[in-house]
Amino acid sequence: MNKNENSTINKNFDLCPNRREESESNKWRFYEDDVLPLWIADMDCICDPEIMKALHQRIDHGVFGYGRAKPELYQIICDHMESKYQWKIQPEWIKFTAGVVIGFNQIIDALAKPGDSVLIQTPAYPPILNAASNRKISCCQVPLSCSSSKYEIDFDKFEESILPGTKFFILCNPQNPSGRVFTRPELEKIAAICLKHNLIIISDEIHKDILFDDHKHIPIASISDEIAKRTVTLSAASKTYNIAGLKCSYAIIPDPNLRDAFDIGGEGLVDSVNVLGLTATEAAYRYGDTWLKDTIAYLQSNRDYLFRQLEDFDGIQSIKPEGTFLAWLNCQGLNINQNPSEFFLTNAKVALNDGATFGKEYESYVRLNFGCSRKTLELALERMKSALENYQEVSKE
Ligand SMILES: Cc1ncc(COP(=O)(O)O)c(C=O)c1O
Repeated sequence: MNKNENSTINKNFDLCPNRREESESNKWRFYEDDVLPLWIADMDCICDPEIMKALHQRIDHGVFGYGRAKPELYQIICDHMESKYQWKIQPEWIKFTAGVVIGFNQIIDALAKPGDSVLIQTPAYPPILNAASNRKISCCQVPLSCSSSKYEIDFDKFEESILPGTKFFILCNPQNPSGRVFTRPELEKIAAICLKHNLIIISDEIHKDILFDDHKHIPIASISDEIAKRTVTLSAASKTYNIAGLKCSYAIIPDPNLRDAFDIGGEGLVDSVNVLGLTATEAAYRYGDTWLKDTIAYLQSNRDYLFRQLEDFDGIQSIKPEGTFLAWLNCQGLNINQNPSEFFLTNAKVALNDGATFGKEYESYVRLNFGCSRKTLELALERMKSALENYQEVSKE
């Protein structure tokens, strides 16, 4: 197959303005000017014009005092969860917070006692990996098992990892960095184990809307009322609609005691969220379906292009993500005797996330963000390929 086939045009990606020179993008400004940044998880893509229109109107209002979400926004989130994920929620279950990461730290802060621990699955998004130590409690890590075609949950290992003090399980679904979208039977089994061991489930579902092929997202709390009662679901429009810098996320907490705990955990830290974030979230969920459909099509074609190209990289193995715009690459076979993210940064001028930050046993991995223009992706892969070729040439000498 021609490796360049299946290129989709999307002006939001293809005409994305220069983020390094014209904005304060962390992704583009963290590294030197000659580096292509395929690391931190936001997209090089203009957001939905409907969101921009709503933001312009809000800016023209001219007053930016502390915010309080309008009742319409609570209802819009309820409608979003019901229409997309068949989960019927109540407006009073929703709490806004300035970020999903803040949200899971907030609930752990409120409820953790000395001797408690947090169960997580690895490889894990670094703030999930660090959530327990931030709160000075311990962390039980259970690795996802990896076959040639899938990351899967080893349910026996999962249950064995629960210790007497384990109080919380942080689920990340869709999973960052593997891109797994867990199925209903998998979620039902996890839920049953959490119920048996009386764990509070903190479910990070920030990537829920970016799904490929026929994968479906199921909020774990939607499995049963019993599970909903012990679950804090965290999500946002931020990742999906590329508005993460506006710092507006939400928690859905059916149980009133957990809701109070969430408020207590936020005391002195989170009062109101960014008013522009509230406006953007409302516009995204009201009007953003068409933009999102086009965005997913572009991301999927980038994903497929990436995986066709990877066939030519001897020594890199990866499993196609089912959702997210992240690819998790095992570089063990490259035999470069060096941390692969450092290798690619130095020799290819491509910034990828270091696998070791997702769990210490993943130092031979990198995470690649393909939420960029096809041109950027092509250039990054060309640079990575020639860096490896040069390395092999030099090592032969
Ligand atoms: C799984 C996951 N959770 C949370 C976040 C960050 O969320 P927020 O910016 O709302 O704190 C990210 C960002 O990459 C993520 O991948």
